Amino acid sequence: MRYVLITGAGNGVGKATAKLLKDEKLLLVDSDEKNLKKLAQDLNAEYFACDISNVDKVNELKAYVEKNFAKLDTIINCAGVWTKGEISQLSDKHFAEINTLEKIKDVLDTNTFGTIAMITTFAPILMKNKKGQIINVNSQSGVETEEFCPVYNASKHGTYYYRKAIQRDLAKHNVKITDVCPGLIKTDFYVRNNDKLPPEIMKLGLAVEDVARTIKYVFDLPHEITIPSIEVRNIKNF
Ligand SMILES: NC(=O)c1ccc[n+]([C@@H]2O[C@H](COP(=O)([O-])OP(=O)(O)OC[C@H]3O[C@@H](n4cnc5c(N)ncnc54)[C@H](OP(=O)(O)O)[C@@H]3O)[C@@H](O)[C@H]2O)c1
Repeated sequence: MRYVLITGAGNGVGKATAKLLKDEKLLLVDSDEKNLKKLAQDLNAEYFACDISNVDKVNELKAYVEKNFAKLDTIINCAGVWTKGEISQLSDKHFAEINTLEKIKDVLDTNTFGTIAMITTFAPILMKNKKGQIINVNSQSGVETEEFCPVYNASKHGTYYYRKAIQRDLAKHNVKITDVCPGLIKTDFYVRNNDKLPPEIMKLGLAVEDVARTIKYVFDLPHEITIPSIEVRNIKNF
């Protein structure tokens, strides 16, 4: 049995991944405490409510892990937030509302800083345990230039290149790391971040179960095999 910490586990991809890995020892993390607690009860898993962009909360999570989950061997970083809008669109009311400086900071703080904070904080524990795996749920936006969402694009490129910069060092310590880069997924991600995509576009997305299956494929590989980055798309939205 593996000891797996999943962020963003209260909803969407993180929740679907937790369900698929229910036979492992799970520590579920999310800022949405209500959904997190319910899922943890359903799966008989441990949970810790934590905003991964908050330094104090991540340090509290570290103390919790050291005390209660010290055999940690896998981190799955799913927590993420969204915004979109080209610079030239920011005079439009909707785009202005979802691109306040606070929102831009939140996207970079969660997607980039939060993911890097999780890796920086917990990779040393994986190394101490002499074996480990990190899976980041990145995005098509981490590998392609998507002009319609430059801030989100920058946030996901940040962790994509961070992963590339640390992967050889981690490998020397028997820890492997993968970016799973999905295209559009049918979740409440957009609605949760005060945006809306047209229904005809949403229906071309991947199901959360498809993304969770991809994560499990990476998770199940023999430890000596690593996939640095894997892309997954709905063929109708390629
Ligand atoms: N949906 C897509 O089309 C799509 C496509 C490609 C990649 N992705 C990536 O896939 C990952 C999962 O997305 P999803 O579609 O499953 O989104 P989701 O349904 O909105 O789930 C994301 C979860 O992360 C939590 N979260 C957000 N900020 C957090 C923070 N600072 N600390 C802790 N938890 C936080 C959210 O909680 P709150 O509700 O409290 O904010 C939510 O429970 C994200 O990294 C996203 O960038 C999504």
